[in-house]
Amino acid sequence: MARVVYIYKAFERFWHWMQALLIFFLAATGFEIHGSFKFFGYENAVEYHNYAAYALIILIIFAIFWHFSTGEWKQYLPTKENLIAQANYYILGIFKNAPHPTKKTVLSKLNPLQKLVYLGLKILVIPVMVISGLLYIYYRYPHQTGVEALSIDSLAPIAIIHTLGAYFLVAFVISHLYLMTTGETITSNLKAMITGYEDLDGHDEEKDEVSDEYEESEIKEETEDKIEEKTEIDNAEEKKEDEHTLKTENNKS
Ligand code: HEM
Repeated sequence: MARVVYIYKAFERFWHWMQALLIFFLAATGFEIHGSFKFFGYENAVEYHNYAAYALIILIIFAIFWHFSTGEWKQYLPTKENLIAQANYYILGIFKNAPHPTKKTVLSKLNPLQKLVYLGLKILVIPVMVISGLLYIYYRYPHQTGVEALSIDSLAPIAIIHTLGAYFLVAFVISHLYLMTTGETITSNLKAMITGYEDLDGHDEEKDEVSDEYEESEIKEETEDKIEEKTEIDNAEEKKEDEHTLKTENNKS
């Protein structure tokens, strides 16, 4: 049976899509600053990158508050259960149309691999990007306005870490987009993150329909067999009765 559940709350969806937009914009402006391509122009790219960075920091503060006040942070607690099965599914099972090894529920929305990756993003990659980015802003800009507290050379490791983090985030976004299409249907995960609702038993529903049909046909067959049996008995009895009447009539005559 279909079981449509409200799985992603309004703030959760807002936070997810704002974060996606900001990370996309930060990657675009960041790689322009890096010199990978030219679109906004270097000066503009730096200015826009800074605005988006502050917007992301504000969003992160609200998201931290939301995760702790709702208890949703528990969704990211790592577990070894089903971890290997989930990895096998992504490597092999998915290409053989195998069933999803982890069942999604409101209390456990993430599979064990998602838990690990998202936790890593939350406690490592995002903090590294924010801290290195803020160091970039506050260590370099005073130097530019004449406060020679730090040598420009000290920015090199910060720039490397920030750029590596950016590559990692871009790789994450690409794999995230692919994995998004591997739900019960190609668009079911996307629709759930837009509307908040997801059919958590979509797959079982098909099975239920099949087994219902199977049961119905079994009952039909059984009934038909019984009717056939009964007709045979009735016919035999009728024949017996006819023979009996014929005998008595013969005896009489
Ligand atoms: C709150 C978070 C962030 C802050 C505060 C921040 C800040 C900065 C700053 C100040 C710069 C140097 C601009 C300049 O040269 O004047 C920079 C560069 C850059 N940022 Fe960010 N950033 C943040 C997040 C991100 C994210 C999420 C990405 C990518 C997904 C990213 C990618 C880059 C890249 C690729 C560069 C160029 C690095 C280089 O070539 O040295 N940043 N960022």
